[in-house]
Formats: sequence, structure tokens, C-alpha cells
Amino acid sequence: MTDLIFNHRSVRKFLDCPVEPELLSRILEAGCRASNTGNMQVYSIVVSQEQTMREQLWALHLKQPCVLQAPVHLTFCADLNRFSLWCRQRQASPSYENFLWFYTATIDASLMSQNVALAAEDAGLGICYLGTVNYEPMRFVELLELPRGVFPVAAMVLGYPDGSFPLTDRLPLEGMVHYERYRDYDVGDIDRIYCEREQSEQTRTLLEVNQKQTLAQVFTENRYPGETNLRCSKALWEAACKQMGWKPAEPF
Ligand SMILES: Cc1cc2nc3c(=O)[nH]c(=O)nc-3n(C[C@H](O)[C@H](O)[C@H](O)COP(=O)(O)O)c2cc1C
Repeated sequence: MTDLIFNHRSVRKFLDCPVEPELLSRILEAGCRASNTGNMQVYSIVVSQEQTMREQLWALHLKQPCVLQAPVHLTFCADLNRFSLWCRQRQASPSYENFLWFYTATIDASLMSQNVALAAEDAGLGICYLGTVNYEPMRFVELLELPRGVFPVAAMVLGYPDGSFPLTDRLPLEGMVHYERYRDYDVGDIDRIYCEREQSEQTRTLLEVNQKQTLAQVFTENRYPGETNLRCSKALWEAACKQMGWKPAEPF
């Protein structure tokens, strides 16, 4: 098995060096080789390279420094627009403005984005996903001029890494894998699965910096607190309704 996957680390510092257009095209082609529902390819990728556009994206991404530094910003979108246009142009009636197809296109866009990530890393580039695209999606819709039926699912910066970056840990496999049936976790399982991470040097530092008792509190109180989750969840839902043409509470 290739070491590529096992060497993945997110890169958040980039050299001031463009990505060659032929290489970028090849990476995007690799993205589009991913498995996808019915080979309909209900996704689109918006490539942003111009300085002014990257500055605006940086502002929307809560000013994460890597967004300004990286030469390429990619927005992976669920796209039911293009396929529906094709249907109408070919005497076929599309019926894709519903939750099933939003979900399907979101899965396909995500699979495609991960192919892009692996192809980029295989070519010596570094990548970092940006979850902030999901915080206020309508602002990305407006900036990138996404029409109805198109929704930003994931964003990523890529470029040549400036330096080397640490490999982050993962939970032991037994924490995620269930054979034949899901076996729910008891207290001992949870202790065992999270033990190594909780005892790491990185956790010790995080607890100190955030003044928290447990690593879980860093997540629930600092990184992803309840009120932010609710606000962003509402914004995401409203944006999906608008872009998919759903009446709120009726995505069917
Ligand atoms: C959907 C998604 C959203 C992410 N959003 C961000 C982000 O906004 N900023 C960031 O620095 N890293 C982001 N990451 C990177 C994760 O923090 C990172 O993948 C995780 O900590 C594991 O580290 P590794 O990728 O180096 O193995 C995101 C990753 C994913 C998959």
C-alpha cells in the first residue's frame, strides 16, 4: 500500500510559488476520476487564484492565514444545476431539487475533493481543507456567483509547503471499526480509545492554553461551542433551502 495516504498532514504554510497550470489541471482531472453516483458528476469545482478573489475568500474564512498564502483555493460544490440544464435541453424532466439529491451531490463532491487532495499530495503539494466554508455559505454563494442548484460543500487551499509539518495522531482502529454489527461503547471502551490522545504532550499544551480540565471541553467550549453550532447550522440550512429551491422545513 502506498505511503502517500499514511504521510498525509494538513499544510497551513505555503511558499510564494504558483502551481503550474498543467499540474493543477491534472490534479483536478484526478478529482473527477472519483467514483460518483450514476456517473452524473453532480459537482463543480471553483478554482480561485486571483489575488483579489483570494483576499475576499480569506475574509470569509475567518482570516485563516493559509488562505491568503496559498496560491490556489478550491471550492467543491454540489451541482445539480448543470445536470438539470442538460436534461431540459434533451427533452428530459429533472427532479433533483430535493434532499436525496442534495445529499447525493454532497457525497460525490466530497469524494472528488479527497481525490484532489491525494493527487495534490502525490505531486508534492500540500493541502488544507477549510470547514469555514460551511459557516456562512451564502457569502460564498454570492462571492462565487453560484446559481440555484449549486452549493459549496468543501473548500481547500493548495500549494507548495513551506517547511515540514507534524503527523497528527488518529484514534486506534478499534475505536472506529465494528465487525458485522455496531457494538456500542461502554465507559471502559471510551477511556481506552481516547487514552493515548488525552495523555499526549499536545493535549497537555491545549489544556494549558485553553484553561480547561479535559480535551473534550476544548471541543465543546472553545472550538465548536453550542451557540456557534446552532447559528452556523441555521445559516447552512437556510442557504441550502435557498440554493436548492426548498421551502424551509420541506426539503422533499
Ligand atoms: C471538512 C474539513 C474541514 C477542515 N477545516 C479546517 C479549517 O478550517 N482550518 C484548518 O486549519 N484545518 C481544517 N481542517 C483540517 C483538520 O484540522 C485536519 O485534517 C485534522 O486536524 C487532522 O490533521 P491532518 O490533516 O494533519 O492529519 C479541516 C479538515 C476537514 C476534513
